[in-house]
Amino acid sequence: MPRALVLVVGLVLLLLGCRKDERAEAPPPAPSASTTTLAQAQAPEPPPGDPAKGKTLVAKFECNRCHEGTGLEQPKLDQDCVRCHQEIHAGTYQASASTLSKWQKTIVHFRETPSLANLGGRLRRGFIEKFLLEPHDVRPHLDTTMPRLEITLEEARDVAAWLTSTATPAPAVALEGASIEKGSALFEAKGCRQCHEYTGAPRAALPAGVADLEGKGERMARALAPDLRYVRDRMAPGELVRWLADPKAQKPDTLMPKTPLSPDEERDLAAFLLRADLAPKIAKIIPPRLPVLDRKVTYEEVSRRVFRNTCWHCHAEPDYAIGDGGPGNTGGFGYRPRGLNLAEYEGIQAGYVDDKGERRSIFSPMPDGTPRLVYAMLARYREEAGQTDPVVRGMPLALPPVTPEDIQLVETWIAQGRPQ
Ligand code: HEC
Ligand code: HEC
Ligand code: HEC
Ligand code: HEC
Repeated sequence: MPRALVLVVGLVLLLLGCRKDERAEAPPPAPSASTTTLAQAQAPEPPPGDPAKGKTLVAKFECNRCHEGTGLEQPKLDQDCVRCHQEIHAGTYQASASTLSKWQKTIVHFRETPSLANLGGRLRRGFIEKFLLEPHDVRPHLDTTMPRLEITLEEARDVAAWLTSTATPAPAVALEGASIEKGSALFEAKGCRQCHEYTGAPRAALPAGVADLEGKGERMARALAPDLRYVRDRMAPGELVRWLADPKAQKPDTLMPKTPLSPDEERDLAAFLLRADLAPKIAKIIPPRLPVLDRKVTYEEVSRRVFRNTCWHCHAEPDYAIGDGGPGNTGGFGYRPRGLNLAEYEGIQAGYVDDKGERRSIFSPMPDGTPRLVYAMLARYREEAGQTDPVVRGMPLALPPVTPEDIQLVETWIAQGRPQ
């Protein structure tokens, strides 16, 4: 093919590629008037799964180590990531006062996760299924995310069936005549922004005499409040109106307060949440990779800053870590045991166990030349920006990415021959 033609074809492909991405990101088509029925905007629910199998899978994936309300018993305290961290912060964990106060300063993550109690009273089954397969960040004030599990479509379908099995469907609601504009004004007036963000949605002015409470909600309630731009994927109109009328009736442990609303106000708010035109989602920025440093980097420094800071909580020997040996070493959350101990120099040299059960180095280069260990940390940024890596899971799992400066440190240490 002549060079120019190759270029043109390439360009067309590129454009097509971009267009496809845009479509995937774009919100559902906006209605021409605020009176359209809502049913047409949402994809039909997928075929139902088997709830009994779903319950077994919830046990296999150990969802109860991070979530309440799974329908399983609570795990033992030394397995329960969230409850142990909460007890340490509440001061009820068995340890000396000085130890507790030291830990309270270091533990910031996995202190709260949404409970899954009566999930179907609010969320659509199809959303849950899709979320388990391709999780994304829902809560802007919560800095942990749902981990990308090793789960099949069939398994996700069964788990979604189990998690929605206790819910009673809400009566259908027609939103004819409901007003997006009135809903938008109510959203400001009723203080929903104390806890919620609604990214990409138009913002009404705050009514005269109403105090601006944006971001003033209590820490835990704010952390657990979803970005409402996802409501149109997550909730059906009937469930949404029922939730707005009385959140605790669907989820007794929810931190969302009941706001007195008239039936018309409920419908206006629902129209605003399901139908307001949304600006496209802003993808998280992937920071540029920093060049290796000229100065010497010791193992002590990379261990303190990275491996023993975050990684070892999931990658250590069982009696070393406080609590569980770690899903990244002995397995857990449905992941196979990778035998990767990042708490000690020897462990780091010993590498991980691949899918065939063979030991491999975490320093071996990926196709682009990046050592696997560094690649896994960079993959976490891409994951957060919506580009999941098909080969390597982003690390640290479910936690905010390691800073570019700390990745630079690890990369420099590797380039210098990983001195002990
Ligand atoms: C390592 C901890 C962890 C594990 C294990 C885990 N989750 Fe999650 N999950 C989270 C976090 C954190 C969130 C909140 C994410 C967000 O809102 O962005 C979440 C969110 C969810 C949600 C969305 C709920 C809502 O109200 O938005 C569902 C559904 C869910 N998880 C189901 C499961 C199931 C089922 C399993 C087991 C198969 C599981 N999770 C395992 C941490 C975990
Ligand atoms: C038996 C109690 C206990 C359990 C169970 C537990 N942790 Fe921790 N976790 C701790 C303590 C104590 C610290 C602080 C250790 C320190 O600072 O030396 C900690 C710290 C952490 C940190 C680093 C601090 C931060 O907030 O980023 C992470 C990450 C972490 N834990 C993740 C987990 C995960 C994931 C699980 C479940 C697989 C888990 N923990 C289970 C007690 C526990
Ligand atoms: C004090 C904090 C707080 C306030 C104020 C608040 N909410 Fe919530 N809201 C939450 C929390 C927390 C959740 C998550 C539910 C759960 O998992 O328990 C939630 C859930 C929701 C949901 C379900 C969204 C989803 O994707 O699952 C909607 C819709 C909602 N809120 C709308 C509103 C509206 C409208 C207002 C104002 C009338 C409001 N909220 C006020 C804390 C709050
Ligand atoms: C919340 C728990 C958790 C934390 C924290 C964590 N990991 Fe992992 N890690 C895992 C699990 C689980 C696996 C196995 C994943 C799989 O099987 O796909 C894993 C696998 C890995 C692998 C092998 C991945 C591959 O396929 O090549 C590397 C490398 C790794 N982790 C590095 C790190 C580094 C570096 C950190 C700290 C910056 C870290 N991990 C923090 C849970 C964690």
